[in-house]
Amino acid sequence: MDQPSQTKNLRIPGPTPLPPEVRRALAAPIIGHRSPELQSLMSRVRRRLKQVFQTEHEVLVFTSSGTGGMEAAVANLLSPGDRVLAVSVGVFGERWVRLAEAYGAQVDRLAFPYGEGADPEVVLAWLRGEGPYRALFITHNETSTGVTNDLGALAAALGDLGDERPLLVVDAISSLGAIDLRTDAWGCDVVVTGSQKALMTPPGLALVSVSSRALAASGQARNPRFYWDFQRAMEYATGRNQTPFTPSVTLLQGLDVALGLILDEGLGERFARHEALASYFRQGAAALGLEFLAREAVRSNAVTALKVPSGITAEALVGRLRDEYGIEVAGGQGPLKGQIFRVGHMGWVTQEELADVLRALREILNR
Ligand SMILES: Cc1ncc(COP(=O)(O)O)c(C=O)c1O
Repeated sequence: MDQPSQTKNLRIPGPTPLPPEVRRALAAPIIGHRSPELQSLMSRVRRRLKQVFQTEHEVLVFTSSGTGGMEAAVANLLSPGDRVLAVSVGVFGERWVRLAEAYGAQVDRLAFPYGEGADPEVVLAWLRGEGPYRALFITHNETSTGVTNDLGALAAALGDLGDERPLLVVDAISSLGAIDLRTDAWGCDVVVTGSQKALMTPPGLALVSVSSRALAASGQARNPRFYWDFQRAMEYATGRNQTPFTPSVTLLQGLDVALGLILDEGLGERFARHEALASYFRQGAAALGLEFLAREAVRSNAVTALKVPSGITAEALVGRLRDEYGIEVAGGQGPLKGQIFRVGHMGWVTQEELADVLRALREILNR
């Protein structure tokens, strides 16, 4: 991939910069949403999505932000009163709690301190003691704390539960396409991502993989749903290469090209590149004396959360990076507001752009 041409160094953890190939695709003429052109585009997008999600099952496309995909999971899998477990390691883990509660589920919340990952043994012990649950909701990469949960280990632990294994529902909004996530091999029933992060496409599409078990559950579950209905979306996808309702045709055109770039790079190469870039950035940040929010073993390859050093406020730091250097980073969310700042390094990003951030930080901290 060549050097990004944006003058601004957009280093928030999504939306992320777009490769020129994707920007060009977004300028293509609109095609009819029931046309043969759309069907062939959709057929390719479906095939590519399955490869990037590492699944044989269908990946449904909804026109919405990522949270819409999360809501689709809750609406389709649960009935009012179902017991579910939300494993939370940050602000986005809490979103599962609120969503499931909004749909009338009985939600147990197993939370780990900010900066920690979910311990698979603790989760398994909890499930053994408090289960069974209809579903377990978890965030793969917690964007608010810069933590990646060891989903592979967690999924393996769930295997020990036999028939009592809950549906495994994963928010992979800030990981899919940057950090390895083996949907089928790990037995993930629903994996949700959004177009605007490692998939290098503008905001506006939610992509949702649905296992056979999840599809069967959606046929039984009694929560109300219409726009988000998995069964109807599945019929349209597999039967007609369409979506039930008018999709964002333009975003599909962009996503198609972005997925092609991702597969050309190769998933393994891509995960390794993210690891190398993240490690470069972490080393540079540590050399500046900055402290990480996340414990070392669980630091994310998609986003780094750094503590705001003494002598400057988060607001001033973020403001100076933006106004004096054209670098946009994110502050902290919820209880972490004012405590940390976050630098995204997922998708279309180069080492040079991260070096720019480190140089700017060094100058600001020296002053
Ligand atoms: C881990 C995670 N979950 C959920 C969301 C919400 O996604 P959206 O804003 O696309 O609805 C985000 C967005 O930053 C996220 O990083």
